[in-house]
Amino acid sequence: MYIKSIRHYKKIKGKRVFLRASLNVPIKKGQVTDGFRIDKQLHTIRFLRMNGAKIIMSGHLGRPKGEYNEKYSLFPVAKYLEKKLSIKIKFIPNQLDFEASNAVAEMKEGDIIMIDNLRFNPGEKKNSKRFARQLADLADIYVNDAFANCHRAHASVSTIKNYLPAFAGLLLEEEIKNLHKVLKPKAPLVVILGGAKIKTKLPMVNQFKNKAYKILVAGALANSFLSSRGYEIGKSLIDGETQVFANKYKKNNLLIPVDVVVATSAKGTKGIIKKISEVRPSDYIFDIGPETVKLYSSIIREANTIIWNGPIGFYEIRAFRHGSLEIAKAVASRSKGKCFGVVGGGETVDALKLSKTEHNVDWVSTGGGAMLAYLGGKEMPGLERLVR
Ligand code: 3PG
Repeated sequence: MYIKSIRHYKKIKGKRVFLRASLNVPIKKGQVTDGFRIDKQLHTIRFLRMNGAKIIMSGHLGRPKGEYNEKYSLFPVAKYLEKKLSIKIKFIPNQLDFEASNAVAEMKEGDIIMIDNLRFNPGEKKNSKRFARQLADLADIYVNDAFANCHRAHASVSTIKNYLPAFAGLLLEEEIKNLHKVLKPKAPLVVILGGAKIKTKLPMVNQFKNKAYKILVAGALANSFLSSRGYEIGKSLIDGETQVFANKYKKNNLLIPVDVVVATSAKGTKGIIKKISEVRPSDYIFDIGPETVKLYSSIIREANTIIWNGPIGFYEIRAFRHGSLEIAKAVASRSKGKCFGVVGGGETVDALKLSKTEHNVDWVSTGGGAMLAYLGGKEMPGLERLVR
């Protein structure tokens, strides 16, 4: 595998670099509340500055509708980065007016300019040539460090590469190297899939159905498989496409929960442990039960490669967090040394952090949908020409 990494480019000094970063982070009251993704890119930013680049960086935050919306401004991200790097960052609220080109013209080596949310421009999501060209005109080279966005065919991720020499950032390079390892896994491979975004997990199931020793399903994804095997799932979340997929899935390497924790209302905060055969039409399945935790943990202990994406239960509520915490601990303790483990997805990483074991996992990916797409063999417009 070849990665066209910025690490090998020897002519960075004095160059204007458009850094497409992954800046989609949680923000509350104007403050970044979890800087995990940004922190992982500091290495790239420091590398570029040390080598004398002028950095024009940007990314997206949330899903604004192609127009300015203060709620989605990257201003708090710029402030967060200023603190992390102990430098001033010039923030450009409007993307491509004279202010941006004047500010770029005045840049010195090591300076950073941040342009506000690229999705404030309708051209970003349309992958517009014009918008890509306008962004490219600000710079001499392009660096993509936004692995989390590489599954999107957007102007700053995809088309911009037509107009500038393009390179992968250091985080993007690490992501690909680590995720590539699990595409050629050391057996036995155990894949753990959970979460509520059910359909996005199906390409992964397909991709690994023959390679995996076991696929352990949990979260809302499990509901479709439980239902297709004739179990009552009450009022739990389900999705038609996944149901059809589950009905057709014939391999016996996919495990479903043997017991669950249910609530009696959608907003219930009290959990009741039930065998899977005891679930009633009025129940909501919100977590796996203790027997399933034991079963899944014992399988995880046999793995030489682990992939985990998607929380195990409704981990935001204390009563339904047990499964996520226990599986996180099992994954982390097995990952440490004995096997190679990767974990990805915003909520999965949150659950991992709640268990305080994230430092024991070999690779915690900054990508959620992107990790699923990459491992699921889907198109990755952001990687074209950068990874072969
Ligand atoms: C991200 O930054 O987490 C991903 O790109 C997901 O955001 P999107 O689904 O809005 O593209």
